[in-house]
Parts: sequence; structure tokens; C-alpha cells
Amino acid sequence: MKILVTGAGGMLGSALVASGAVGYPRRFLDVTKPAVAAAVLAEERPDALLFCAAQARVDACDERSEAVNVLAPAWFAQRVPTWLVSTNYVFDGPGPHRPQDARTPCNPYGEQKARAEDAVLAAGGHVVRTGWLFARGGRNFPSSLPARLSRGPVQALEGWPVQPTWAPDLADLLLTLPTGVTHAIGSAETTWADFARHLAGLMGLSTQRVQGVQRLQGLGPRPSDARLTPATLPPWQARIQELLP
Ligand SMILES: NC(=O)c1ccc[n+]([C@@H]2O[C@H](COP(=O)([O-])OP(=O)(O)OC[C@H]3O[C@@H](n4cnc5c(N)ncnc54)[C@H](OP(=O)(O)O)[C@@H]3O)[C@@H](O)[C@H]2O)c1
Repeated sequence: MKILVTGAGGMLGSALVASGAVGYPRRFLDVTKPAVAAAVLAEERPDALLFCAAQARVDACDERSEAVNVLAPAWFAQRVPTWLVSTNYVFDGPGPHRPQDARTPCNPYGEQKARAEDAVLAAGGHVVRTGWLFARGGRNFPSSLPARLSRGPVQALEGWPVQPTWAPDLADLLLTLPTGVTHAIGSAETTWADFARHLAGLMGLSTQRVQGVQRLQGLGPRPSDARLTPATLPPWQARIQELLP
């Protein structure tokens, strides 16, 4: 079975390629260009498509990101069996949220992903919701912590429950092509402040380097509680040491 991955240069896409999927990074497949996409599908003839391309920087989402976040997954789902990687940010609070619960996105990113879910499901595709991914080389907050902690103090959110999820664990689950709407997230809860303190300890640094804060300057609206259930992927404590250099 041939499984094709869009957005293969990203954090999750790279993990999928490492696990055996055929990956197309953005420079070879811009998912917003139908002529390019049609040529790739004609050449590869995939049995399944894992749609990982996205504007995944939450606060960068606006009408310009609709092309990649909404229109492109809909286009692919009409042409090939498609699995959309979606987000816990389609929910607000209180959690934990079940797959069948009503979605109430509180920012453009969550709203766009919710519309993409509808389009993909309507075309006969499937949705896997996840959240708070981390991986070596990832550009997001948890993945960049080792470098930031080694440079000096780091501010991290206190009091906001997260379920950190090791991207390669999600990749392995995605390659089983679960049908319908699936929640796939790490089984242990923490806060970013405690996650960062744990990592500082593993790095031999003082946990005082982590300044727990209730709010971060410049951070746009976030769900008050975006926890998902069921939460079956390995707990972050079993994977966090993989971030170490
Ligand atoms: N990271 C998380 O915590 C998280 C949580 C829940 C859900 N997700 C979802 O998981 C999926 C993968 O996210 P990720 O964390 O791996 O994000 P990522 O590292 O930012 O990867 C996304 C990739 O999509 C690419 N891309 C953007 N526009 C594209 C286009 N027009 N055509 C083709 N590729 C394009 C990006 O390329 P450039 O870098 O060149 O822009 C990037 O390589 C996304 O659907 C995201 O919404 C992620």
C-alpha cells in the first residue's frame, strides 16, 4: 500500500517519512496548486493520502491560510482517500473532549481546521485530531526548549493543561489509517511550565530557569481546555529525553 504525505518537510511529515511513507515537502508539492497536485497524484497513484501540510502557526492563521488549511484538504479528499491531521483546537472548554463532541473553535486556526474536517468527512475521508506535538528538530515551543533553556531563562505557561505528544508516536498511529474521527494524543497531562522544568532537570540545569506565567505576551486566543479523550499514545515522560541533544 502506498501512503503519500503532504507537508513532508514539517515536524509530523518528517516523522511519517522516517516511518516509511512517501513524502512530498512543499517545494515539490504546493498543495494550493491544483495542477501540481494533479500531476503528483497521477504519477504516484497513492492508495491513501495523509494531509499534513498546514499553516500550523496558530497566530499566523487568517484568510490567507484558508487555501492550505481548508481548500487544499477538500481538493485532495475529493480525489484520493484522505486522512486529515486535525487539532484539539477545534474545541474550547471544558475538556476532555470526545470525538463526537460539538466543536467550538476560538481562533481562526481552529475554525479553519473544523471546516477542513467537514469537507474531508463529506468526501468520505477521515480525521485524526491531535495536539501539543513535540519532536527533535520541531520549531514549536516544546521542541525548541532544549536550545532555549541552554541559553537562559524561559517563560512557560502555568495552569493550562496539555497532553504533550511525541510526533513519531502519532506517525505510527496514522500509518494504521484509523477510520472515522479519531483522537490521538499523549496519555499524560502536564503544563508547559512543568514540562520545561522536567526537561531542565534532565539537562542538568536548575528548574529555576523556568518562569511559570499565567499569560504569554503576544499569544493569541487559545482554548481554555483543549484536552482530548481517549488519550492513548505514550506519556510524554517516556519520550521527553528524546529531545536531548
Ligand atoms: N504541532 C502541533 O502541536 C499540532 C497539533 C495539532 C495538530 N497539528 C496538525 O498536524 C499537522 C502537521 O503539523 P506540524 O506540527 O508538523 O507543522 P509544521 O512542522 O509547520 O509542518 C507543516 C508543513 O506544511 C508545509 N506547508 C505549508 N504550506 C504548504 C503548502 N501550501 N503546500 C505544501 N506544504 C505546505 C510547511 O512548509 P513550510 O515550513 O515551508 O511553510 C510545513 O513543512 C498540521 O495539519 C497541523 O495542523 C499539529
